[in-house]
Amino acid sequence: MGYTFMAPAKILSGKNVIEELGEHIASKGKKALIVTDAAMVKFGNVKKVEAALQKAGIGYAIFAEANTEPTDTIVEAGVAAYEREGCDFLIALGGGSPMDAAKAIAFMSRAEGEIADYMHVSIDMEVPYLVAIPTTAGTGSEVTKNTIISDTKNNVKMLLGGPSIIPALALVDPTFTMTAPPKVTAATGIDALCHAIEAYTSRKAQPMTDTFALSAIEKIHKNLPLCYADGANVEARLAMSIAATEAGLAFNNASVTIVHGMSRPIGALFHIAHGVSNAILLPACMKFAIEENTERFAKIACLMGVADEKTPIKEAAEAFVAEVSRFCKAAGIPTLGKLGVKKEDFFAQLSKMASDALESGSPQNTMRIPTKDDLIAIYRELY
Ligand SMILES: [Fe+2]
Repeated sequence: MGYTFMAPAKILSGKNVIEELGEHIASKGKKALIVTDAAMVKFGNVKKVEAALQKAGIGYAIFAEANTEPTDTIVEAGVAAYEREGCDFLIALGGGSPMDAAKAIAFMSRAEGEIADYMHVSIDMEVPYLVAIPTTAGTGSEVTKNTIISDTKNNVKMLLGGPSIIPALALVDPTFTMTAPPKVTAATGIDALCHAIEAYTSRKAQPMTDTFALSAIEKIHKNLPLCYADGANVEARLAMSIAATEAGLAFNNASVTIVHGMSRPIGALFHIAHGVSNAILLPACMKFAIEENTERFAKIACLMGVADEKTPIKEAAEAFVAEVSRFCKAAGIPTLGKLGVKKEDFFAQLSKMASDALESGSPQNTMRIPTKDDLIAIYRELY
């Protein structure tokens, strides 16, 4: 069976490319709905988008209500704003939440029924033109076919997706990431590292995703510490922005594996930021996964400079696992205890978290497929 690789029709990247936005969308619509959050308005990032649209004579309305992880009610309000304002395309500006909200608003502006009806179908109807502008170097949502929307009636996080919600244009401008504080830079950067490592070591990996995943791993390993130490380092910020997009392209087509699978239940039950729970899990998950994937782990070790071609494969793979552990510690990733999660509360949820993780299907993409007991043992190791 052949491989499918899906990506946006256009990816525009570089420092200050926001100024070129108008020329790329002049023929795409007359009035944009800018889907964003209050912080983006406060930091002046929305102003930069407004300036680009004004220069091109394109109208717009601002929907700055994607302030939390998006819910069905936020999406309904966004669709209402899109219709009320007479918009004909959308621009998402922000981290994962505004981008996920905009994807859902785009397809729900055309879809019949409720958003929950689309939970287990591939969304492939024609949707309005969608531009995605990430302001963190992390989620990769600007190039992916998925969106996570909370169903507020049933208290479920719905994973929705399909080819039509891949943004048509991803605009990757590192200047938007400059205001991110070190903690956010670290958590989002390690999220991107997880995307790349998981895609490269996934059962669904393919030659095209390997290329993007390896390139992302090398860039993140080199540049995340530089961004963490000095947020004003433009070159390092640019490399991180490109790397996060590359990692997004990789996992969009090769899937994530054990780390993301185990991370979602921690996030849902203990309200820990996505990147942080990934980073907490990464070393223990890699230690588990090493057995069935030593060659690929060894290859990453060489990229990270902790082994070379002469190092025995098993030794190199172990060096990779040790290096991710050191890397997460150096990025100041806290422990569950430091985040205020009580051991007894966490241990009381072990069975549920392991079941929910398996239910998502992601852990099964790992070369060494974990059982429920394996997942419980890994969760225990986090304390
Ligand atoms: Fe992620």
